[in-house]
Amino acid sequence: MVEDCEKQCQHQSNSDSRSLRSFVIFTVFLVLFLCYYIIPNKLSESWALTVGLFLPEKFTTRAINVSLNRVSALTSAELWKPPEPYYVAYPYKYNLVLNEPEKCQKENPFVVLMVPVAPSNTAARDAVRSTWGSERLVGDKTVSILFLLGLPTSEERETLQQNLLQESEKYHDLIQRDFWDSYYNLTIKTMVMLEWLTVYCQNPSYAMKVDSDVFLNVKNVVNMLLSAPKQNYMSGLVARNAMVLRDPHSKWYLPKTVYDPPLYPPYALGLGYVFSLDLPVKLVKAAQIVKPVYIEDVFLGQCMTHLGIALTDPPDGSLFNTFPVEYNRCRYSKLIATTTRSLRDQVEFWKDLQRPGPYC
Ligand SMILES: *[C@@H]1O[C@H](CO)[C@@H](O)[C@H](O)[C@H]1NC(C)=O
Ligand SMILES: *[C@@H]1O[C@H](CO)[C@@H](O)[C@H](O)[C@H]1NC(C)=O
Repeated sequence: MVEDCEKQCQHQSNSDSRSLRSFVIFTVFLVLFLCYYIIPNKLSESWALTVGLFLPEKFTTRAINVSLNRVSALTSAELWKPPEPYYVAYPYKYNLVLNEPEKCQKENPFVVLMVPVAPSNTAARDAVRSTWGSERLVGDKTVSILFLLGLPTSEERETLQQNLLQESEKYHDLIQRDFWDSYYNLTIKTMVMLEWLTVYCQNPSYAMKVDSDVFLNVKNVVNMLLSAPKQNYMSGLVARNAMVLRDPHSKWYLPKTVYDPPLYPPYALGLGYVFSLDLPVKLVKAAQIVKPVYIEDVFLGQCMTHLGIALTDPPDGSLFNTFPVEYNRCRYSKLIATTTRSLRDQVEFWKDLQRPGPYC
C-alpha cells in the first residue's frame, strides 16, 4: 500500500513539474514574442530597459553616455533647438546683479549651503534664516548660507527688485543673476550656482544645494561630510535606473526629442545634494558639451556620467527623504533632509528639535 502511494505520488509530482516546465517555457516565448514582434518600434527602448533591470549600472551608464553623445553630435551639426518650454538657455554668460564676492573668504566655511528660491518668496527665505539657516557653527566647523535668485518675472518686478536690494543689504546672503527665474530655468540656476562657486568659493571643502522647502539637519550634514571623500564626491538620495517620464501631464515630462534614452543616468535628487568643491569646475566644463535638460538634478547626473564619476550613496538610506517624514524628535534627530508640507511645519519641527532633553 505504502509503496503504491509512493509510486503514485512520484508520478504525480513528475507530471506536476512537467506542466510547470511547459508553463515557464510558454511564458518565456510569450514575452519574447511581445518584445520582438508586437512592438518592433519600441525595440531599442525595451532592450535598454531590460539592460537597466538586469545589468550592473556600469553598462547602462555607458549606454546612456553613448546616447547623450549622439544627441550632442547631432545638435552641433544641425544647431537643433528643442521646443519651448524645454529649451534651456545654457551655456550663456549671465551677469551678476546681486553678489557676495567675499562671503567665502571672510567666513572660511567647511560647507556652504546654496538655496535656490524664487525672488518673490521672501517667506521661505525668512523661514530658513530663522531655522536651519541660523546654525552657523557645528563643533569647530563653519557653515555659510546663500540664496540663489534669477530675475523676477511678475508684474511688480521693479518693486520686487527694490525689496531684494534692501534684503540683500540687510542680510548679505543673496546671489542674483540676470536670467528669468522660472521653473523651466532651474537648470540655469544650478549651473550659475556652480559657476559662482568656481569663481568665489574655492577654499571650502564642500557645498550643498538644498531646496528652501526642506527641513535640514545641519549637524548631521557636517557629521556626514567629516568622513566623506574630498574629491569627486557627490551624494544625496541617488536614483539609479529611473525611467524617463513620457506622460505629457507629468511635472517632469521629457519628450523624446529633448532626451532620447528611456532611463535617466544615475543622479542625486534635487531636494538636497552635497558635493566636494573640486566638482563645480568639472561640471561646468561638462555642461558646455552635454545638451541641457530643464530638470536640474538629472542634468547634473548627465554631466557626472559624461565625466565618468560615480555618485556616492549616503551611509544610511533614511538620511535623505523625498516624501515628507512624519515628525518625531527621534527620527528627525537622525535624518539629514526631508521635504515638508508647509513652511509652518518646517519652522515648528526645527524649534521642537532645539528644545533640551533626550531625542529618543
Ligand atoms: C529662461 O531665462 C532666459 C534668460 O533670461 C529667457 O530668455 C527664457 O525665456 C527663460 N525661460 C523660461 C522658460 O522662463
Ligand atoms: C562619455 O562620452 C564622452 C565623449 O565621447 C567621453 O569623453 C567620456 O569619457 C565618456 N564618459 C564615460 C563615462 O564613458
